[in-house]
Amino acid sequence: MKVSVKRGTVLQENVDAILVGIHENGTGFSPLVQEINRLLSRSISKVLERKGFTGKPEQIEVIGTGGAIPAAYVFLCGLGKAEKAGLEQVRQAMGRASLRAKEMGLKTLATSTATFGFRLEGVPIKDVGYAMAEGAILGLYRFSKYKVKEDTNSRNIEELRVVEEERNGVREAEEGVIQGRIVAESVNFARDLINHPANDMTPAILAETAKRMAAANKIKCTVLSRPQIGRLGMGAFLGVAKGSQEPPKFIILEYNGGKRGGKPIVVVGKSITFDSGGISLKPSEGMGKMKYDMSGGAITLGVLRAASMLRLPLNLVGLLPATENMPSGTASRPGDVLRSMSGRTIEIISTDAEGRLALADALFYATRYKPRWIIDIATLTGACVVALGNHATGMLGNDEELKERVVKAGEKAWERVWEMPLWDDYFEQIKSPIADMKNSGGREGGVMTAAILLSKFVEGYPWVHLDIAGVAWNDKERAYSPVGASAIGVRLIAQLLMDACS
Ligand code: BES
Ligand code: MN
Ligand code: ZN
Repeated sequence: MKVSVKRGTVLQENVDAILVGIHENGTGFSPLVQEINRLLSRSISKVLERKGFTGKPEQIEVIGTGGAIPAAYVFLCGLGKAEKAGLEQVRQAMGRASLRAKEMGLKTLATSTATFGFRLEGVPIKDVGYAMAEGAILGLYRFSKYKVKEDTNSRNIEELRVVEEERNGVREAEEGVIQGRIVAESVNFARDLINHPANDMTPAILAETAKRMAAANKIKCTVLSRPQIGRLGMGAFLGVAKGSQEPPKFIILEYNGGKRGGKPIVVVGKSITFDSGGISLKPSEGMGKMKYDMSGGAITLGVLRAASMLRLPLNLVGLLPATENMPSGTASRPGDVLRSMSGRTIEIISTDAEGRLALADALFYATRYKPRWIIDIATLTGACVVALGNHATGMLGNDEELKERVVKAGEKAWERVWEMPLWDDYFEQIKSPIADMKNSGGREGGVMTAAILLSKFVEGYPWVHLDIAGVAWNDKERAYSPVGASAIGVRLIAQLLMDACS
């Protein structure tokens, strides 16, 4: 779908449908809606009087225009109560509306920032355009690669046209639409990788995908293979990889958009392409979902793609320790002790606590860059799912300023984070009688004991850890995120980076 911006009057556009925003509970119409209402002999007012459609968030009502205007339909899109309205309601309404239009087989849509941004006090047109593009592009996403018999492309929307009355509006909306599109398409790029089954998203395939993405976006990509990883001394990461027939890959991406020699920001993504648990085998029920254990890596690739396409003036590094976690005769055992690249030793309690092992070496590798910030993102613990459910990403870190920035970016992107304590006390639980630490502290405080282990490998650097175990996969469809990979984290980190540049 193309998202375009032009100067003009929405009402005169010759499109299949015009999308307008309506607030809940009679808080008044935007001028555009008033005008449509008049031209369609008060049919919008009549719909609202019937009370089937009230303007609640995510509600959509389709009205036929009967030729009163060039467009065949007007979509009323619920934005919720005016006092609660924000950019998230814009995204949701856009997501729902574009999906409905697609289901109806429509091809061209027109709208304006004035109708969706109505009553959004102090929000720039640019941000509204950004959110509209995001909502539509994210909402239309479907993963249909393996549906060979269904022709899913015949019903695609060709164009969403944002029509602005004023020249400044056009310029601002355009800026927002371009950026929103880049970020949303980067999210969909990450979703695609995550949704792939593990047989088609092995570490080697992930590495090839990273290389292709990098080559298309002026990003340097280096892939280290097992012997090279071994020479670096990444014994923790290799301890996870040992059980698998699929060779591990350590994927390094470098985007240099900032000053030469400027301290980079390093993003590290957990990239377990399948987590069976290893010798500490997971129960078989629902195990197939563990193909999503490379979400962090896919999100990292999405962030690099977005940063490069947005030409952000900063230096950015992405690190993906990619491997499967499999049981076999060559697999690590509970009780084994691994020597990490940092020299610290880790006793394996559970081979299912593999993410922190892979991340420990990747995080330590990150410190080689003397980075400004290190951000890791990982489907790390079931405990995080229990603690925060499906609505918040767990955040722990060692730097107040960085954490504050992440919280703000999360609110803006509506990929919200919730801080959990990174207190030294939690280290007690992972003290080992035989090694420097152990890889599991038991059931209690699982989010914190995982994070405190990671913290030992980034000492001296501002670092934040994002546990996305609860939010990375939608079991149920959401307004602009279908069942499957959410890739939550791309928009959060992209926002953090954009804010760091302004
Ligand atoms: N990838 C899982 C975390 C996970 C579990 C995410 C369930 C989403 C749903 C991770 O590798 C894992 O298995 N963690 C263990 C750690 C434990 C053995 C200390 C867990 O959370 O059960
Ligand atoms: Mn595991
Ligand atoms: Zn895992």
